[in-house]
Amino acid sequence: MANPVFEAVRTVLAIRDFDGKEIPDDVVRRIAESAHLTASASNRQPWHFVVVREQEGLRKLGSLVRTGPYTAKAAAAVIVAYEKESGQYGLSDASRAIQSIILTAWAEGVGSNWTGFAPMDAVRQEFGLPDTYDVLAVLPLGYPTRKVLGKKKRKPFDEVVSAERFGTPLR
Ligand SMILES: Cc1cc2nc3c(=O)[nH]c(=O)nc-3n(C[C@H](O)[C@H](O)[C@H](O)COP(=O)(O)O)c2cc1C
Repeated sequence: MANPVFEAVRTVLAIRDFDGKEIPDDVVRRIAESAHLTASASNRQPWHFVVVREQEGLRKLGSLVRTGPYTAKAAAAVIVAYEKESGQYGLSDASRAIQSIILTAWAEGVGSNWTGFAPMDAVRQEFGLPDTYDVLAVLPLGYPTRKVLGKKKRKPFDEVVSAERFGTPLR
C-alpha cells in the first residue's frame, strides 16, 4: 500500500537549483502552516518563521548565508528562528518544524534545503528578529530546474539501525 509520507521521505533531496517560477500563495501558506502545526516540547512553540518572497530579501539571504548562496535565485525562503532561552529543546523543536516544511514543500513539487546554522546574527538583524531569538536555518524554496530522482547516498541500513540491542540487524 502506498504511503505518501514515506514516499516523500524516500524521494526528497536537497535542492539547490530553482527554475525561477513563482510558488502560488496557497502553497506558500500551506508550507508555513506545516511549520505552525509542528509539535514541540511541552507545546511551547518557541519559534518564529519569516517567509521571504521579495527579490531583495532573497538576494540578501543569498549573500548572508555563505553555504547557501543559491537562495538568491529561489522563489521564496523561510527563516527559521527559535527563542534562545528554549535551549536544546528549542533547537529540537525548530529542527522538527524544518522537516515539516521540507516534506510539505516536496509533496507540492517544491524543492528546498537547509542552509546555515545557528546563530546567524546578521540574518536575524537584517530581518528584524529580536535578539531573544537565534536563527537556526534559512530554507530556500522553489521548483527544481530538472527532474530529480530519489537517489540517496546513505550509510548501509544495518550500520545505523539495530534490533533490540546495538549491532543486531533488524530483519
Ligand atoms: C542540519 C543540516 C544542515 C545543512 N546545511 C547545509 C548548508 O548550509 N548548505 C547546503 O547547501 N546544504 C546543507 N544541508 C543539506 C545536506 O548537505 C544534504 O541534505 C545532505 O548532503 C544529503 O543530501 P540529500 O538531502 O540530497 O539526500 C544541510 C542539511 C542538514 C540536515
